[in-house]
Formats: sequence, structure tokens, C-alpha cells
Amino acid sequence: MSDVLLQGQADHAMRNWSHPDPGHIKIGSRAHLEMFCDMLLETHNPYKPAVIDWPALSPDALERVTSLPIWDMAVQKEGSASISVETFAKTIDDPLLRRALEMDGNEELRHKAVLSKLVEAYGITLSPEPDYPPPTDPEWGWMAIGYGECIDSFFAFGLFEVARRSGYFPPELVETFEPVIQEEGRHILFFVNWAAWYRRNMPWWRRPWFALKTAAVWVHLVRERIGIAKGVDKDAVAGDAKQDTNFTVSGTGAVGDALGLAQMIDLCLEENARRMAGYDTRLLRPRIVPFLARVVRKFVR
Ligand SMILES: [Fe+2]
Ligand SMILES: [Fe+2]
Repeated sequence: MSDVLLQGQADHAMRNWSHPDPGHIKIGSRAHLEMFCDMLLETHNPYKPAVIDWPALSPDALERVTSLPIWDMAVQKEGSASISVETFAKTIDDPLLRRALEMDGNEELRHKAVLSKLVEAYGITLSPEPDYPPPTDPEWGWMAIGYGECIDSFFAFGLFEVARRSGYFPPELVETFEPVIQEEGRHILFFVNWAAWYRRNMPWWRRPWFALKTAAVWVHLVRERIGIAKGVDKDAVAGDAKQDTNFTVSGTGAVGDALGLAQMIDLCLEENARRMAGYDTRLLRPRIVPFLARVVRKFVR
């Protein structure tokens, strides 16, 4: 079979998945755990970063790609995500859940490899990479990555589509990068199902503490993103083109200018729904960020 055909099959398989057993699945049950783990494991796309053929870019397009202030952040984010997921995986006894988490962590590492190859292919200079220490609380580290991806992926879905439609990036480059974005979609789907399963299997006395911890993770993530947004503003005023640390924030400025906030939110919602549409409807969907986006949308025109 030709490589193109194989790639097409792998691409379809990563976006469409249903569990073969029909019938109701109780959230929190063993069947639920098996379903969201199988979803992640069976939709893995086995592409290899080393063999990606980075398209040649016109001088304009190359300038747009290299001047985007996101590359340091993107590489570092994938580096810390992979270590956080890997650290949490090591604490898990259940072999199936552990295998799924290990795959998730490996995919983060592969994202980092893809980005490193892209940076190398287009001659982008990165700042030296920091160390990625494992989180002291593995559960916190995993939840911060999971909920953080729920926020960032929602906006990345919309931004990616803007970049595609506007031709800001050449189509070949968008296509090359597409599987990474869909992978983040699989990750957040896996994460929200894990979170629901985990809560339901927790002894009752741990639940209030866990609810507080979840709230603390959200506060941490929102503050982190506000801090980054402020940093971006300051740099913009100072005319400092240094690499920023958040794709959502700096990416919006770079490719989202042409679209108003209302259209941007609509596009994020549409893209979020489209990217989730191919997976078994018995799995829970990420809901918090789309809900908040709909609330904000009511107030903007
Ligand atoms: Fe990633
Ligand atoms: Fe991810």
C-alpha cells in the first residue's frame, strides 16, 4: 500500500473512533475507564517527526513563520507536559490506564520533536531550553496539564482554522501540523473522562479536598494566562519581539487580528465541536471552556 494511502488511513483512524460494544456506559465504571483508555490507544497516529517533509516556504511565508513569537514557549510547554504526564503515569497501578497515560506523555514528547524539527527546518533560533523538573505533586502536575490543555486547545482550534482560511501560513505547512492539533483534541477528551472517572472512584472523604484542589488548579491556570497576556502587552509596547510563552495569547495577536472577538469565539466553538465529533458519543466532552466561551459570547457582538 502506498505511503499516502497509509497516512490517509492513520489520519482517519485518529479522528474517528467508537467502542464496538453498544449499550449504555456508566461514567466511573470499569467499562468507562476501558473506553477512554482504548480511545486514546487506538487512535494513536504513528507518524515519525524525523521523516516529516517540511515544505519549502516563500520568503514572505518564511518571515511570517520565523517572526511568530511562540516557538520557545511551544517547545518548552511540550517538554514540561511530557514530564508531568510521565510522572503521573508512574504513580498508576492499573496497567491499561498506565499504558494510556504513557502514550499521552510520549505524544507530548513527539510534539516537542515535531516542533524542534520545524524550528530547525526554518532556521528559527530558540533560547536555551530550561530543565524540566518533575512536578512534586504528580496529581497536580497532571491536572494542570489536562485543564491547561482544555483552555489552550479550545483557542488553538479556532486560531489554527483562521491561519488555514486566511492563508497566513501556506496550506502545506498547515497540513503538516494538523495531526498535532487533533492530538491535543484527543488528549483533552481523554483527560475530562479520566477526571470524571477519578472523582467517582474516590472515597467520599477525599472528594471535598479534590474539589478544592481542582479549583486551585483553575485559579493557577487563569493567573498564569493573565500574567502571560500582560507580559505580551508590555513587550508589544516596548517593541520587544522576544519569544512569548503562550500560544493562545500571542497566537491570537499574530493571526487573529482580522477577526472580531465574536467571530473568533464562534469559530473556536465550531472547530471544537468538529474536532470532537468523530469520537464515541458515550464519552464525555470537555465542557467548561466551551460553556464559558458561550457566556462571554452573549455579551459581545
Ligand atoms: Fe502537546
Ligand atoms: Fe496534549
